[in-house]
Amino acid sequence: MIDKNLVAAPGSPDRALLDALDLTRLPRHVAVIMDGNGRWAKQRRLPRVEGHRAGAAAVRDTVETSARLGLDALTLYAFSTENWKRPKTEVSTLFTLLKEYLRRELRTLVENDICFRVVGRLDGLDGSVRSALDMALEATTGCRGMTFSVALNYSGRAEITDAVRSLAREAAAGRLDPESIDEAAVARRLYTADLPDPDLLIRTSGEMRISNFLLWQIAYAEIHVTPVLWPDFRCRHFLEALADYQRRERRYGGVSEEDAAEVPPAPAALEA
Ligand code: FPP
Repeated sequence: MIDKNLVAAPGSPDRALLDALDLTRLPRHVAVIMDGNGRWAKQRRLPRVEGHRAGAAAVRDTVETSARLGLDALTLYAFSTENWKRPKTEVSTLFTLLKEYLRRELRTLVENDICFRVVGRLDGLDGSVRSALDMALEATTGCRGMTFSVALNYSGRAEITDAVRSLAREAAAGRLDPESIDEAAVARRLYTADLPDPDLLIRTSGEMRISNFLLWQIAYAEIHVTPVLWPDFRCRHFLEALADYQRRERRYGGVSEEDAAEVPPAPAALEA
């Protein structure tokens, strides 16, 4: 049961947005491409890293809102395999912010039964980042509430490639019949194997791109793009994204109920 007062104070503008939502039709899994940190900093004549620092506060707020709404899963895109091309100091600041976030928030995650996860190639990460991640993974392993995943050193194409390679290895070893490989077999080998596919993908900063994020999993996700820059993204913007999601009609390649019920025209009318 959602405690609305924890999500938004009675009488506040956020509360009006919350009250307008159908809480029985929330997405199970929301994925977010956090974008616009650099532009946020530039607008304020600050170094880019200050945008990332401010972005960490938006992460905290979004995790809190998602958990209070009772979502099953939240996945945030924090660092792609392509992000290594950024200046060294920016890359190291991003990982320092992640470590700081975990140090500060781990207890809150555990207290709120939030299970922390990482999606991406962990073996490409620095030892100190790995130990901070391992500590958080271990501390929240028994948590049964929302799954909060951070995509780090992540690439959707690499994830699918890894899954295909693992299937090919099993087939070559004679443990798997290639004819038995179906979509579920591929999905089981992805980092997100035990999570529902995202129902809603949010991208901040107005860019209309997927940027190699959860390529397989977002096949039927609704996409919400907001002009808000990530460091400014707060509960209100999240609730607006959910309202947008609830206005969509999800057809999964079918037709709407209304169109399905349409009476076909009589053959004579077709001939006329
Ligand atoms: C994109 O903005 C943002 C990122 C590449 C990093 C997101 C990271 C954080 C919010 C830091 C903290 C993370 C956690 C999980 C605590 P950009 O730099 O590409 O922005 P721009 O397009 O305006 O330059």
